[in-house]
Formats: sequence, C-alpha cells, structure tokens
Amino acid sequence: MSNIVVLGTQWGDEGKGKVVDVLTPYVDVVVRYQGGNNAGHTVVVGREKFVLQSIPSGILHPGRRCLIGCGVVVDPASLIQEMESLVQRGIVLDGNLFISKNAHLILPYHPALDRASEAKLGNRRIGTTGKGVGPAYVDKAGRVGIRMADLLDERLFREKLEYNVTQKNRLLRDIYDAPTFSVEEILIPYLRFAGWLAPYITDTALLLARWIDAGYSVLFEGAQGTMLDVDHGTYPYITSSSTTAGGASTGTGVPPTKIDGVFGVSKAYTTRVGGGPFPTELHGEAAELIRVRGNEYGAVTGRPRRCGWFDAVVGRYAVRLNGCEALALTKLDVLDQCDVIKVCTGYRYEGELLTEFPVEERIWAAAEPVYEELSGWQTSTAGARTLGDLPAKARQYLDRLSELVGVPFGLISTGAVRDDTILCEDSPLTGWFPALRSSLR
Ligand code: IMP
Repeated sequence: MSNIVVLGTQWGDEGKGKVVDVLTPYVDVVVRYQGGNNAGHTVVVGREKFVLQSIPSGILHPGRRCLIGCGVVVDPASLIQEMESLVQRGIVLDGNLFISKNAHLILPYHPALDRASEAKLGNRRIGTTGKGVGPAYVDKAGRVGIRMADLLDERLFREKLEYNVTQKNRLLRDIYDAPTFSVEEILIPYLRFAGWLAPYITDTALLLARWIDAGYSVLFEGAQGTMLDVDHGTYPYITSSSTTAGGASTGTGVPPTKIDGVFGVSKAYTTRVGGGPFPTELHGEAAELIRVRGNEYGAVTGRPRRCGWFDAVVGRYAVRLNGCEALALTKLDVLDQCDVIKVCTGYRYEGELLTEFPVEERIWAAAEPVYEELSGWQTSTAGARTLGDLPAKARQYLDRLSELVGVPFGLISTGAVRDDTILCEDSPLTGWFPALRSSLR
C-alpha cells in the first residue's frame, strides 16, 4: 500500500480538494500536515458544495479516517463550527476524525495580532487571511505556544494562557495600539471547546505508525502551495508553515522512509491571493476573463484572486523541491475559450535569461516572464473522460507543459464535479493506486 503526499505546486488554490476527493477511495487514511483554517478546500459532491478548512477533504468519504496532524494550527471555534456543519449534512465524525495532541491552538489574540501587524506593514503587508495562522506559528517556534494536549489540562492551560495574555496584551497595546484581552474571556469558551474536542484529541503520530504497520495507506493532504512555503516560497510573502513535501513528515510524525511518492497539483493557469511577486500576472480584461470563468474568488475570504498564465519555471521549481513524480492539472476547461494561451518558460532579468526560480526578492520582484505562445482549442473540454476525448490542441498544451516541468500528468480535471476527471494511463498514479486502473475508462 502506498503513502502519498498530495500538495500544491503554485501559490495555493490549485484544486487540491477535488484531487484528494477523487483519490480518497483508494486510501484508508487522509491527514492534514500544515496550515490551519486559512485553507479553503472546495469539493463538489453531486449538487452539494463543501468548503473544508481544517478537516481533511477525505472526510466526505464514509469510513475514511481523517487526521489533523501536529503541523496544523487549530482554531477550535472554527473547527467546531466546521464539524457541526458536516454533522448536520450527514457526515459521520465519531471514529473517523482524530486531532493531534501536539497541534498548536490559535487563540483570539492571534487573529488580533495578525490584523494589527498587517495594518502596520503598510505597502509591505502580506495580505494574510487574517485568521491568526502566522502569529500561532510564531508562538510555536518561540516555544510559548499552547497545544491541544494543554487544552485538556485546565491548570496548565490557565497557567500558559495567563503568561501569553500578559505578553500579547503588551504587544497589542504598546506596539499596535489595539484592544487587549482578559484571561477569563478566553479561558471560559476554550474550556467549553476542550470538552467538545476531547474525544477526538489523541496521539495521531502513534496511530499513523500503527496503521502504516498494519498496511493501511495514507494520503497526506497539503494546504496552500509550494510558493507559499516558509522556507522555499516567495518569502516574506508566504504562509508560515512548511507546505512542501518535507512538511508531510514533520507535520505528522511519519518518517520520510514511510512516504512512497509525491503528487503535485497545478492549475492550468496561475492564481495568487495576497501580496507578493507573481511574474505571469495578467491585468485588466485578460485577468478578468480567467477570474470569472474560473470563479477565482477566495474560498475563505472571498477576495478576488490575481490571475495569470501557467509559469513553467515555478512548475519545475516545485517538481524539484517536492520530488513530484507526476502532476494533476486542474481547471483545464477554464482555458476553453482562449484563442492564444501563453506559457512562461523563463524570466529575463537585467538582460539575462533565467530558467530556475531565483531566490532573491530583488530578482523575482523585477523578473520579466519569457513566453511561448500556443494556440487555444476554442471548444469545450467538459465531459472528457479520456485524454483521447480532448481536442488535439488541448493535448498539445498538456504535452508541452509536461515537457517543460519534466514529469507526466496523472490526472486532468475539466470541471468541479468528481466525474469531470481524466485519469491518465501509465502514470505513477496507477502504480501507487493499482485499483485506479479499473476506473480508467
Ligand atoms: P496566512 O496564511 O493567512 O498568514 O496568509 C499568508 C499568505 O498566504 C497570504 O498571501 C494569503 O493570501 C496566502 N494564503 C493562505 N492560505 C491560502 C490558501 O489556502 N490559498 C491561497 N493562498 C493562501
């Protein structure tokens, strides 16, 4: 049985939720390993749309065990709301959902600090989701974070909270001129949350080790994308977690030797929310066309996403950093009406051609994309079930992208619903999940 990481290769919003949903029938366990409720994984099941923020998308498949790993930061109020809304829609959580004792909590002062810090940064603001994810990871790395296990120990929780509230209030009052918090106004609701969540909180690393030993297969569900990684992304315009493949190990406690493969998810074009560099960004009507056709508005914040052409430099970078052996390409249908489609193959910087993603902010901020133009197929790809069903020019587009990023496609998505999916023969995907072969039409 294979243990596979599924992660985004761009700036998030690649359509990972749908890809995880399509692959979940072939695995036993799905685990989130980083991020928090800044993520918004949209999955369409029949006529129903689900937006999952902290719970793995696998929860929509009955009987699949879903875990929130230690690398995730959890806002209990938001998690409980998400749990309640799933239960109301008939999803069974008991026995299927497990939360790591080591996962750090997002506390009310984290979103307050997130927003206050953004306001202070002015035109260097990150454009965060405002959920407090960055400040929660600051506390984790600063060794003052409060974890799920602490929440279950009232005395310890109070002690840690008192220390933190004193420190954060100083920051909020003296640095940011923002409202402060009392211990009681956090303690009372959080102890209620503790009662609610206690049955789900456990040693998930131990569970995973036992399940893997017993032959269960695990899907590691990434959130955000490679270019938002705290180390390898477009720092400081990033999220604060390890979105790349290594995060799957540190964020769950599953050793790298037990992980068998990495499946990257790319969109047929590129989007980004928030600030920071985006070399292939389009503006005006061209961007609006993609935004409207692709419904490119944030699942969590509703913000319009910045839109642009596929960037093969970013694609190659993500394949290299994550060790992706294959990619899923989503939202191909969004390009159906384009007469010309551009693909970025390199950047020009001070007269030099760059084919590797640069590390320096000064370079990626000024890099000019070098484009190759392909002719569009200008016909609908909806309902395609095999690669052969796609127009020849769409296949040429896929072949060229695959050549540029250096790995084959395993899955192509041409619509939001589960059925609008092409599974490619002889890709690493069918090696990881042999049962997928019987689904190939
Ligand atoms: P934070 O994760 O809320 O701190 O936001 C940091 C950056 O990551 C901002 O540019 C956000 O727009 C971006 N970001 C965070 N979560 C997502 C996501 O799920 N999709 C796309 N961008 C995200």
